[in-house]
Amino acid sequence: MKVDVILGLQWGDEGKGKIVDALTPQYDIIARFQGGPNAGHTIEFNNNKIVLHTIPSGILRENTLNIIGNGVVIDPVILMNELRQVLSFNPNAQGNLKISKRSHFILPIHRALDACYEQSKGNAKIGSTLKGIAPAYSDKYNRRGLRAGEIFQDDFEKKYHDLTNEHLKIINLYQFDIDAFEIDKLPFREYEKQWFQAIDSMKSLEYIDTEIFINEALKNGKKVLAEGAQGTLLDIDFGSYPFVTSSNTICAGVCTGLGVAPGKIGKVYGIFKAYCTRVGSGPFPTELFNDTGKKMQVIGNEYGATTGRQRRCGWLDMPALRYAVMINGVTDLIMTKADVLNSFEIIRVAESYNENTIQYLPYNINNTPIIPDYKDFPGWNSETENISNVSELPDNLVSYINFIEKNVNVPVSFLSLGPDRKQTYKL
Ligand code: GDP
Ligand code: IMO
Ligand code: MG
Repeated sequence: MKVDVILGLQWGDEGKGKIVDALTPQYDIIARFQGGPNAGHTIEFNNNKIVLHTIPSGILRENTLNIIGNGVVIDPVILMNELRQVLSFNPNAQGNLKISKRSHFILPIHRALDACYEQSKGNAKIGSTLKGIAPAYSDKYNRRGLRAGEIFQDDFEKKYHDLTNEHLKIINLYQFDIDAFEIDKLPFREYEKQWFQAIDSMKSLEYIDTEIFINEALKNGKKVLAEGAQGTLLDIDFGSYPFVTSSNTICAGVCTGLGVAPGKIGKVYGIFKAYCTRVGSGPFPTELFNDTGKKMQVIGNEYGATTGRQRRCGWLDMPALRYAVMINGVTDLIMTKADVLNSFEIIRVAESYNENTIQYLPYNINNTPIIPDYKDFPGWNSETENISNVSELPDNLVSYINFIEKNVNVPVSFLSLGPDRKQTYKL
């Protein structure tokens, strides 16, 4: 057996949580391979709505195992809050969750550093979610991070304090007032206490060598789905650097973030919205600053699931999508939120940039003047809510999908026409 992958092809929030949840019944194991609580994966079912940040989106189904892989960074307070919420929907949730001993912790000081560095950047800030992601991954690569498997060791607290004290020296150099700094409305020192309480609660969870577990599971014929966080254009190597996150969000991240060999990758599902959104700073070639963008934002309810910030909106961007499909080796596309465009007269797509001279998102997009080459499509001007069969899809929507498929040479296998898990169609 091989590991199938679902990952975002844009700047995140493509609907990964919804789709992973919808496809979970076809899998035995769902595994997150990177990112941390910067992610916000929304799932809607039976009139319930839940946003997951760290736990994989298969956790709402009774019989599926969920794995937090070694590539993930964990904030214990956020994880335990999330688990409490999930337990109210699925009493088996705790038993169905396994955590890699090799996953790293986000310490309160990482959140302070995130805020401190963002503040010092002024207008050049990344627009981080302030969840401590970059400082936590920096410590991992600096070979001094704290790992989940270490919580049972006697020197865990000492390591925590040593690392925190190291960082406090930097914080002081920046003249950042740690005592005035609050995390989720709690003073820093209070949050530290909560953090240690959460670590204590985490001792009741299960820590394993997830890389061995997953490889054995594959040998035994189990079906595994890897769930990405963020999106390809936020990848640390291939995204719109420096306006990116600090992990490899792309398919290759599955190999390092779960311990799965490249040859063990199966289908790669790339998710994209029928248009584009972005939260935080950074380039966005097809961004709309007019009423059309506002309309997408309102109808699409485009507010960040983690930070509540407004998402910037714009047209679908083929140079970006083409690039993402190539980097990930996407075998199947999944288009979400097409219903948001139901009432648009004209739908535009950037086919290329700068009079057909640029076909792929350039590396220095931050300082390359870009004029998208738009192609216009007539809208479908109809509701899609009551569609029970794909044969009922409006013709203009089908033409829009066909154009995208031909353009990137990959089929669209699923279409999402609403936030509920039921509003998912196999094409
Ligand atoms: P993720 O981070 O990729 O899991 O996506 P988010 O949960 O951050 O954002 C996607 C948002 O769109 C959520 O509010 C979903 O409930 C919602 N959503 C997902 N798919 C669809 C869809 O096809 N149509 C509509 N209207 N909303 C959707
Ligand atoms: P999901 O998994 C959208 C963005 C932030 C910021 C940049 C760096 O829900 O799709 P970070 O906190 O990682 O240092 O922020 O990346 N960002 C996301 N945008 N969806 C996400 O996750 C994101 N995770 C990070 O807004 O611009
Ligand atoms: Mg999200």
